[in-house]
Amino acid sequence: MTAAEQPFTGGAFAPVAEEVTLTDLAVEGEIPRELDGLLLRNGPNPFGSGEAGDHWFTGDGMLHGLRLAGGRARWYRNRWVRTGQLAWERGEGPKPQLGDGDSPANTNVITHAHRVLALCEVGLPYEVTATLDTVGRRDFGGRLASAGPGLPAGPMTAHPKLDPGSGELIFFGYWWGPPYLRYHVADRRGEIVHSAEIEVPGPTMMHDCAITATRTLFLDLPVCFDLGLLEHTKMPYRFAPDHGARVGIVPRRGTSADVRWFEIEPCYIFHTLNAWDEGDLVVMLAARYPSMFDWSEAEARFMPAPTASLHRYTFDLASGAAKAEPLDDLAVEFPRGDERRLGRPQRFGYGVSVERRPQGDPAFRHLVKHDLRTRRRQMHLVGAEDMCSEPVFAPRGPGEDDGWILAVRYDAGRDASDVLVIDAADFSAPPRARIRLPVRIPLGFHGNWLPGVGG
Ligand SMILES: [Fe+2]
Repeated sequence: MTAAEQPFTGGAFAPVAEEVTLTDLAVEGEIPRELDGLLLRNGPNPFGSGEAGDHWFTGDGMLHGLRLAGGRARWYRNRWVRTGQLAWERGEGPKPQLGDGDSPANTNVITHAHRVLALCEVGLPYEVTATLDTVGRRDFGGRLASAGPGLPAGPMTAHPKLDPGSGELIFFGYWWGPPYLRYHVADRRGEIVHSAEIEVPGPTMMHDCAITATRTLFLDLPVCFDLGLLEHTKMPYRFAPDHGARVGIVPRRGTSADVRWFEIEPCYIFHTLNAWDEGDLVVMLAARYPSMFDWSEAEARFMPAPTASLHRYTFDLASGAAKAEPLDDLAVEFPRGDERRLGRPQRFGYGVSVERRPQGDPAFRHLVKHDLRTRRRQMHLVGAEDMCSEPVFAPRGPGEDDGWILAVRYDAGRDASDVLVIDAADFSAPPRARIRLPVRIPLGFHGNWLPGVGG
């Protein structure tokens, strides 16, 4: 297998073989003293050699934690999530409380109601401690029950939304058989207080959702499940524009009968940036791909060629009309913002620019900041040969954009990673601090800044 056919196992993507605990890390520049908390990241890190042909999306989840406090980088740890499968592969199990390992738990890591959860959309979340030891699967007291006999419990999206006003966690789970889509709201104590089955025409890959202060938006987009594809590809999904594309808007505690569906042009959205209410309008910002998993075009490539650009959707609840408008033509991914604004009007977004190398694999060389009011952007080059991860916003003062951007940079020259601390309001300037790890954090998917958390 050539590098072109398997672009997600080398360089910045290459898995690491060891779990380490490192203290008092080398820092260039100055870590702002108000940064007191834990930066957590999650991403795939296949244990052992990994099966040849593994897709980037399927490796065992590994968590990376960096504890910042008092102007110092106190510790860094990386730990595999002890899913049932991983524990068994490492000769550590299987342990009954760790379940049957149907989820690699490799996509995101969040905190809610004093629990830290590692998430992947194909199964239940795994609870971990603030020092990254696995506690076990969390099924919300049985409320994320199996869809049927013989089926795994859960699942739960890797992109739940934390309402900054109510403290509620809003999320869904999708599955390949009926019921295809279930909707949940957990209160600020972490108890599920609302669940509803949402009727959709069939099984699609539903990676993200969005919330406003009062509503939830579901993305029923035409990346359709087809088990037969696994003979030829590593992903059982195909772009099927005939399925149609719809966004469903439901009141926070609504049911399937309350959903208003809006037809949109077929596309795919992995990630929304935000959404909010504006009178009768619901606004949604998202990174939109014209297609995804169109195997007829991309043949056996592991990552198809289309790129996403930031779009603004408006849904008119009075007239039923939907509009889509590009905000910027730059190819981007991993859009994030100041999550104190989640569900509320937002001016600034941060992300990663996506360039395609000739062999098709992506290069993430720039962090990007969008000013959605002036429609201008600023870029932060992390290095011509280097790669950067999703930017995470850590608040400083109360204002939007008043905070720090934390991003992992793969330093190709050292084959190791730095964590960059960038002033969000002075985005293109050199980082305020660079924490120089002696190890690599493989380019992963998502993470969060947990203020005040960490041993
Ligand atoms: Fe994601």
